[in-house]
Parts: sequence; structure tokens; C-alpha cells
Amino acid sequence: MSDLQFPASFLWGTATAAYQIEGGVNEDGRGASIWDTFSKTPGRVENGDTGDVACDHFHRWRDDIALLKSLNCKVYRFSIAWARIFPNGRGAVNEAGLQFYSSMVDELLANGITPYVTLYHWDLPQALQDEDGWKRRGIIDDFVNYAEIVVRALGDRVKHWITFNEPWVFTWVGYVFGTHAPGETANVPTPALQTAHHALVAHGKTVERIRALVPDAQVGITLDLMHVDPATMRPTDLEAATRYDGFRNRWFLDPIFRGHYPADMLALWEEHLPNIEPGDMAIINAPVDFLGINTYFRVVAQHDGTVPYLQAGQVRPPGEYTEMGWEVYPQGLYALLKRLHSDYRPKAIYITENGAAFADTLTEDGQVHDERRVAYLRGHFEAASHAIRDGVPLVGYFVWSLLDNFEWSFGYSKRFGIVYVDFATLKRYVKDSGKYFAEIAAAT
Ligand code: FCB
Repeated sequence: MSDLQFPASFLWGTATAAYQIEGGVNEDGRGASIWDTFSKTPGRVENGDTGDVACDHFHRWRDDIALLKSLNCKVYRFSIAWARIFPNGRGAVNEAGLQFYSSMVDELLANGITPYVTLYHWDLPQALQDEDGWKRRGIIDDFVNYAEIVVRALGDRVKHWITFNEPWVFTWVGYVFGTHAPGETANVPTPALQTAHHALVAHGKTVERIRALVPDAQVGITLDLMHVDPATMRPTDLEAATRYDGFRNRWFLDPIFRGHYPADMLALWEEHLPNIEPGDMAIINAPVDFLGINTYFRVVAQHDGTVPYLQAGQVRPPGEYTEMGWEVYPQGLYALLKRLHSDYRPKAIYITENGAAFADTLTEDGQVHDERRVAYLRGHFEAASHAIRDGVPLVGYFVWSLLDNFEWSFGYSKRFGIVYVDFATLKRYVKDSGKYFAEIAAAT
């Protein structure tokens, strides 16, 4: 533990997302989301798993908050299910949905845990997908209106807001690669770039709206970012790494922090660009109070002419890999944090997700000896602590995840929790990684 030094103000917590843990999909007036539809479409999710029950957090949230407290969490990041608030995406508000989250917020605060609320973690109301989802420009207003209703209900108590979780993932994977809801595919980037542009404009407008409603709010966005290394020092690989970084990182960072899409990527995707209306880029450039980053692995990129519109692909260096096939590479976290600080100067950075899936076994006496996850976390905590030492304004760290949960298209087959969930009984068991986390959180 000697190498871990965090300031006393450092915020330790865990993160979750509504569809991955709540269940209760037909309760208290919730409408359907694209993940209900997608998970119930045969062949979409491993093992036919759905979020119908998930961790049953919808009924067990008080116990789960007690669990957070026992793990010494100072902060907790969770998301609101849009379809609990507006079962049809817009129109009449479902008060029971607001009440659910309002009670949770009260319980968190009563336990001394600060809530960080994500407004969009991928579960778009199906009714809006029926109108073309994020492809329709009008969704910007629908989102801002939804956000406003939530912020009006919770903003007296919730002061930390995250507009979107990982816009790259839900636009590219949902509208081009097709392995996430709504499951659309395309062989050009345009649907991803258009849906992402709408999400970014919605983000900027929401930042301004939240500030107007809650003057002491801290508002940010969570991006999925990664350190990218070139496979070799050959110019073709160096250029491929730059494109890969543009594709995954700069396409989102540049508009948010600099007010324009990156010039090299605009040139590369000249024939595939989204419609951008006058004023959009200034809206996206609304100042944020913090940047949230979700990061799990690095990418080693090489030139690959078979990958259309990017001519770049990934190689798999030797090393340790998690159950997701993601490389364990804590140095990448250090490099990423340093780079974000020097290139974009966000006022504050949170790691809003970091963690690892490994195949866990529950012993007969209710233990989970997940030493590989402990080592993963220790390595990444060290990288974070070194980044702080070297001047990066990293202020908090949310481990993904509190509980084993519904891991999107992998269903329940990938366990990320620091608390084990027995999905047959829904009982929770704190893993060794949970105990390790609790120790670190208490020591800070
Ligand atoms: C991120 C998601 C989160 C979880 C982790 C493993 O991309 O934001 O919901 O699935 O990956």
C-alpha cells in the first residue's frame, strides 16, 4: 500500500447503470427501453439473458446502499432510466419513477454518500427509437426536456450530474456495428457520426440547462477513452495510431473542449460527415466542470487496409487479459491521464469507470478470492496515484462495478462486481476485491 497516496479529499466510489442492475422492468409505470427490446430479440444477448430481474436492485436498493456504506464509498454513480420517468420518451411524467430515484438519493445522503447521477446510460425509451432514435434531430429537445424534469426533481439534493455515458459506444456499437441496442448496422460511419452529433448537442444544451436550474451544480460528461500505442515505429503504424486515437478519443474530446471536430478526421471522413447546424459547435463547447473517463485497456494500433474508413486495426500484444479479452495495462491509465491534462486541461477529472471481469468462484463459506481483480485494481490505483503526484487534477475514482450485473450483449456471463451476485438467489457476497477496495477507501 506504500505506493498509494491520495489526498484526503479524494472520492472513492463505485458505479452502476440502471438497466444493468435494476430489474423491475414492468413496475411502477416504467416504459420499455431499447435494451428490453434488444435483449428479448433471439440471438442478440448471450444465453438469452435480459435485464428483467438483473440484480433486483429495484427492490433491494436500501440493502445495496448499506453495502456501499460498508465498502466505505464516499460517492456513488448510478443512472436514471429515462423510461421510468417518461414511459413514452416524452409527454406525461411518471411520478412514481421520479419518486424511486428521489428516495434513493435521500437514502444515499442519509448514509453520507454523495450521488453522481448519469442521465443517459444507453436505455433509450423504445417509443423514441420507433421514431428513429438518436438519428432524428428532434431527440435533442426530447433529451433536454427529460433532463430538465429529472434535475428539477432531484437538483435540490443532487449536485453532480453526468449528461451521457460513453457516446462513442452507444452510437458506433448501436448504429454501425449492431451488437448493442438498437442493433442497426451500416458500412459507413455516417449513422454513428450523426447520432453522436445529436448526443453532443444534447449534452451541451443540457449543461447550460442544469446550470440555470441548479447554480451550484457540477456538470460533466463521461467518455470512454484509452491510451493508444502504435504497433511499430513505421510511419504507417504511427499514422494508424493517430487515426485510431481520432476515432475513439479526439472525435469527442475536441468538440467538447475546443469547439470543433478534429481536422484530420474531418478530412478522412469527408464523405461521411453528419449534418451540423450553425451554432452546434459552440453549444457542444459549453464549459464543463469535470471530465469523467471510463477506461479499461489500451489499444495497440497498426495500419490495416481491410478496415474501411479507418485503415487501422488493433494488435494483441503478449500480456495478461481479462475475461473480456481486454489487456491489463495500468501504465495506459497513467499515460491517458497525463495526456488529457496536458492536451485538454479539464478543471477536474474523475475515473467514472474502471474495473475488470474475471471468472469468479463462490466458495462454500461465501468467499470469492478474486486475486486477479485485486491486482488489477491495485495496479490502476497506483497509476492514478502517480498521475496525481505528477499534477493531474484527478479527484475521484469509481470502480466498475458495485455488483456483478447484466453486461450488455454478454448477459450475466461477465462478472465485473467487487460484490458477487448469485443470480439464482440474488444474494450478495463481498469479494476479496471489495474488501481491498474498502480498505483503500478507508485509508484515504
Ligand atoms: C462500459 C459501460 C458499462 C460496463 C462496462 C464494463 O463500457 O459503460 O456499462 O458495461 O463497460
